[in-house]
Amino acid sequence: MSSAIPQSFIQDLLNRVDIVDIIQVRVNLKKRGANYTACCPFHNEKTPSFTVSQEKQFYYCFGCGAHGNALSFLMNFDRMEFVEAVESLAASAGLEVPCEEKISSEKTASTNALYTITEKAAQFYEQQLKKSSAAIEYLKKRGLSGQIAKYFRLGFSVNEWDALYKTLSSQNKEVLKDSGLFIDNNGRFYDRFRNRVMFPIRDIRGRVIAFGGRTFTDEQPKYLNSPETPIFHKSFELYGLYEAKQKNKTLVRALMVEGYMDVISLAEQGITYAAATLGTAINIKHVQKLLRYTHEIIFCFDGDQAGQNAAKKALEITLPLIRDDIKIRFMFLPEEDDPDSLIQKIGKQAFEKLMDESQTISDFFFDQLKKEIPIRSLDDKARFAERALKQLEKVPQGIFKNLMEQQLANLLSVEPEQLKRLVFSAETKKHPVNISLQRMHPADLIMALLLNRPALIELIQDTQSWQFFKFEHKDFFDLLIMTLKQHPHIKAGDLLTKMDPQYHPLIAKLAAWEFSFPESGIEAEFLGAIECLNQLSQEKLRQYLIQKAKKTSLNESEKQKLTSLLKNKFSEVE
Ligand code: GTP
Ligand code: MN
Repeated sequence: MSSAIPQSFIQDLLNRVDIVDIIQVRVNLKKRGANYTACCPFHNEKTPSFTVSQEKQFYYCFGCGAHGNALSFLMNFDRMEFVEAVESLAASAGLEVPCEEKISSEKTASTNALYTITEKAAQFYEQQLKKSSAAIEYLKKRGLSGQIAKYFRLGFSVNEWDALYKTLSSQNKEVLKDSGLFIDNNGRFYDRFRNRVMFPIRDIRGRVIAFGGRTFTDEQPKYLNSPETPIFHKSFELYGLYEAKQKNKTLVRALMVEGYMDVISLAEQGITYAAATLGTAINIKHVQKLLRYTHEIIFCFDGDQAGQNAAKKALEITLPLIRDDIKIRFMFLPEEDDPDSLIQKIGKQAFEKLMDESQTISDFFFDQLKKEIPIRSLDDKARFAERALKQLEKVPQGIFKNLMEQQLANLLSVEPEQLKRLVFSAETKKHPVNISLQRMHPADLIMALLLNRPALIELIQDTQSWQFFKFEHKDFFDLLIMTLKQHPHIKAGDLLTKMDPQYHPLIAKLAAWEFSFPESGIEAEFLGAIECLNQLSQEKLRQYLIQKAKKTSLNESEKQKLTSLLKNKFSEVE
């Protein structure tokens, strides 16, 4: 598929976007010298070894070797496919992706057709609700007003085999099938939802993408949901988020609950900022999505063991996502209640008070650990510290993390420095950022400098004398020089798209080296390295010719060469 997008477009795209902009919104970058650094988003670490170079449009991690350009970052960080990453980058640069255009407009047409179906279905169910006294009665009994039912666009699916199908039968049958609203019995369609109260599920833009239907008889299952469809991915969606966003200009906080009825009942009582997963356990996508719209999440759990387990899972998911401006709380309900029943008992004010008093993430974190490892001995202390620090490794650097470490030290009544000595021995290996130039092979230095300042290629006139000189990465060395001769202004990040993937780690390593000498000295260093490489290669040639002369004999031009090489050698000594 990737070949459908012209290479020239990808180059153009990479020229227009800035990798720093792309990464900065996803990772907390700090400016350090010419580069930006952060703790690597691709592995767990405590000291930052991830660097982003604006000049080179390139990222590299000295810890795990992760590297690439803006496109590869999107693919790895947002877990996008190539085409998807190109489209996303193009959108941010205001460009249209050529070639793929047709495919994506066809795709848009078919998803638009799906939205039309789900919207028509929602309207049909809404109308049916008005006519069903039994369904209205049920909703009233559950404490819902007509207003809130309207706001959530609640509906009713009548108890007939094909009531919805009949109203939509003029539509394209493939699209109807894809909508998930019908069950296809050998080409005969009948309605998936019958005799249920209908909850339309809306995406963040307010489009109906799926439905949940609750029985109000004894029918099983209690809730029936739309299957996965091209426009509905159950494990990413949050029920009620769109409605919450509509009611609140800014979502100061969001309450995460379990069920449809919890969201609606809370809204009925004035808590208009709740959202629920769709019957699945909470996952990282949910939390990431929520955090795009709010900086405070209160997770609400049942008071039983299942609730405790769910909370532990939410804690694990959330720790790596914490930034200093994010607040997370954990709220546990009395065992016999869910949010719906509790708020009906105690009302908005008391419910919000419980929210305000609920455990902060750090309290929950330490309470949880104390349950697992009660501290009775020095040994327990070490184990406690070890476990805590291990989990805290996942937390990005920042004030929150520092506070947690401080709190841990207080809890164990030791100094924070002692804490680490308590558990770590030779653990913290540092990643060298400045690699000693002295120990670099001149060819490596040449390549590294070229990757940093491609224009230096103009200083290389003669590559002849290196022709027979073999050294590590020689094939890449030749390739790099050839490529730069053709494209003297290419950036390291762009080189990745030009060169075989086998060379990418080497490009990354060389391009990421930081030089300790000043800008004004770069050219001299470069020329020095070339001179050094020349000498090495002459030395090699000299040795080769001397060996050959001993074993066999030299031809005329070899003799001349050796004579001149030996002359050079003696003039050096003088
Ligand atoms: P009420 O019983 O109407 O108060 O609903 P609830 O929201 O309190 O439901 P419950 O706590 O039993 O379940 C929470 C969520 O799990 C629901 O909102 C559904 O999303 C999902 N769920 C519950 N029961 C079923 C079921 O039988 N099938 C499916 N697919 N999902 C269910
Ligand atoms: Mn309930």
